[in-house]
Amino acid sequence: MNKINKLLQKKHKSKIVCLTAYSKNIASILDDHCDLVLVGDSLGSVLYNYKSTRQVSLASMIEHSKSVKLGIKKSLMVVDMPHNTYRSSKEALKNAKLIISKTKCDAVKLEGGKKITPIIETLVKNKIHVMGHLGVLPQSAKSFRFKGKKITERNKILNDAKLLESAGVFSIVLECVETSLAKLITQKINIPTIGIGASNNCDGQVLVTDDLIGLNPINFRFVKKYSNLRSEIKKAVSKYSKDVRNKKFPSKKQSY
Ligand code: KIV
Repeated sequence: MNKINKLLQKKHKSKIVCLTAYSKNIASILDDHCDLVLVGDSLGSVLYNYKSTRQVSLASMIEHSKSVKLGIKKSLMVVDMPHNTYRSSKEALKNAKLIISKTKCDAVKLEGGKKITPIIETLVKNKIHVMGHLGVLPQSAKSFRFKGKKITERNKILNDAKLLESAGVFSIVLECVETSLAKLITQKINIPTIGIGASNNCDGQVLVTDDLIGLNPINFRFVKKYSNLRSEIKKAVSKYSKDVRNKKFPSKKQSY
């Protein structure tokens, strides 16, 4: 069974585990535990301190994805199409083909609803697997407040989810979507929903790995820190610097 069908079959059966990776070493650790590894354009803020993911370039996404691919053996690998790389069907097809040929990823992810359904249809017709992304859309968002408080907003997101499904996406990320709306969308569509800040009502969950391992010094309500790697790395680097200054490293053991 191919990776996409495997993922689709998980809906209603078992939770889908997803995380982001931007490089080989992290990807190889995630690969043993995740169903899906996403090369997210969140790398713009996490690695480059960009104010917005809008600053992330196609070239940068491709280089990071090539590195991630080296660490992946079994997971489904999805790459975010960055801002301004899918403004028309023609542009999206050219850039999605480029991402896939250079990185050998399995699928691409695009942010948006109704407006981008013709673009998604073009990609799908050309045998490109597409993941959708609704709720907070970092590439175009003016505010990062959760979505689904107002009835008009709820109806729009639910309708967008149905349109994306009809356009052929194999799964949809729901970012910062109110709990009962995430539940409704997950019930109303036949493809898996993957939540981030969207409660446990989704078919799967994704987080930015740097956040969950405590490497990225942020505090979002929807992040649970499973480790404090910053402090572990600090301890190791501090010991190393003391050893070098005290001439304890390198010793004979580490010398030729
Ligand atoms: O860019 C990203 O990492 C993402 C996830 C947060 C879903 O889109």
